[in-house]
Amino acid sequence: MEVTVTRIGAQGDGIADGDRGRLYIPLTVPGDRLRVRALSRHGDGFAAELIQVLDPGPGRSAPPCPHFGHCGGCSLQHLTAEAYRRWLLDRLTEPLARVGLADAAIAPLLQTQPRSRRRATFSALRPGAAAGAIVGFQVSRGHAIVDLSDCHVLVPAMMPLLPALRSLFAGILLPRQRIDVAVTAADTGLDVVVGWPASPDLALRETLASFAENADLARLSVLVGDGPVEPIVGRRGVGVRFGRTVVSLPAGGFLQASREGEAALVAAIRAAAEGRRSAADLFAGAGAFTFPLAEAGIRVHAVDADRAAIAALTAAAGGLPQVNAEVRDLFARPLRADELNCFEMVIFDPPRAGARAQAEQLAGSKVTVVVAVSCNPQTFARDARILVDGGYRLDSVTPVDQFLWSAHLELVAVFRR
Ligand SMILES: C[S@@+](CC[C@H](N)C(=O)[O-])C[C@H]1O[C@@H](n2cnc3c(N)ncnc32)[C@H](O)[C@@H]1O
Repeated sequence: MEVTVTRIGAQGDGIADGDRGRLYIPLTVPGDRLRVRALSRHGDGFAAELIQVLDPGPGRSAPPCPHFGHCGGCSLQHLTAEAYRRWLLDRLTEPLARVGLADAAIAPLLQTQPRSRRRATFSALRPGAAAGAIVGFQVSRGHAIVDLSDCHVLVPAMMPLLPALRSLFAGILLPRQRIDVAVTAADTGLDVVVGWPASPDLALRETLASFAENADLARLSVLVGDGPVEPIVGRRGVGVRFGRTVVSLPAGGFLQASREGEAALVAAIRAAAEGRRSAADLFAGAGAFTFPLAEAGIRVHAVDADRAAIAALTAAAGGLPQVNAEVRDLFARPLRADELNCFEMVIFDPPRAGARAQAEQLAGSKVTVVVAVSCNPQTFARDARILVDGGYRLDSVTPVDQFLWSAHLELVAVFRR
């Protein structure tokens, strides 16, 4: 059937009206006149396959990566910079409008550069007994894996690891075995966590240790099921610099997707902290915001549910008496309004689920400056509404594109009362 794309949806697919309802067509732009075929049901409509572009819409651009279109790592490389920027801003303004905050002041989008992302989870598969292993990202629709030769998103330091992982997995994966491999490019080298079905035996441990040596990894660990992560070999500390402080990241620990993105968040937090003497850093991880604030002379109380992250933060804080830290589940036990009132400022940076319970406590507090960092504009909008209903003014929202060419957007917002 022939259709015209009217807009790009939240997951990056072009949307058009077909005979039987809404169609979601990957790799298309508004204004595209297309021949398509409807496939299976998809959300409130149907997934569709592009057969032919009859008349291209404006906003199309040549994707830089040869894997684009097949690889599920990126969904928006086919847009011009301007069309991509507009689409990203819609990801923020639509959820804000839905909760009645359409008039929020949105600062210009801060964009990170290609080849700057320092975290990735690859899939690896040995397709058959006679085959080598493939390593890359899953395709956008389906379960196949794209055997990555290059990536325009990830830091260059990760690229030599891909052929090395192929050789390793060709030797240790069973035919048709598929695993995940999480890689973090820390300041001191690569930190690799291999998902494995059982605790490795001695022979496998030796193979993994010599792989880590040859690939000059900082650390290699194994994750069995839901964990915990078991370090197999630590060749040097997995160090990252937060402000001037070097923190040894725990295996599998959180790290902002890019150094530039983290710097943009820190700059916004430090600007909001001007003149403050104390802050609570909630969902603090290993201290990406704690240390820059503490180094600016602010007393910081850092809270996170991840015991290993708080242990790393505490160890690194040795020389900074104004930092203290607490392990606490902030979904089940958010800091209460009376606890929050001890701080002149609160920062919260929750996982994608957001921080509803914590926002409710903040709404009842007297804290004058609240900074929300979020990787999910939907849950951010919900939590922002709670704060505004509690008497806060949403002063600014700064979108930060640190998940380049994907449907994810980071943001930092400042609330005051
Ligand atoms: C987006 S990360 C932010 C970490 C840190 N602010 C940073 O920039 O590196 C979210 C953090 O929330 C923590 N977290 C997840 N669920 C939590 C919970 N229920 N209570 C407290 N912390 C939680 C994770 O351990 C993680 O460190």
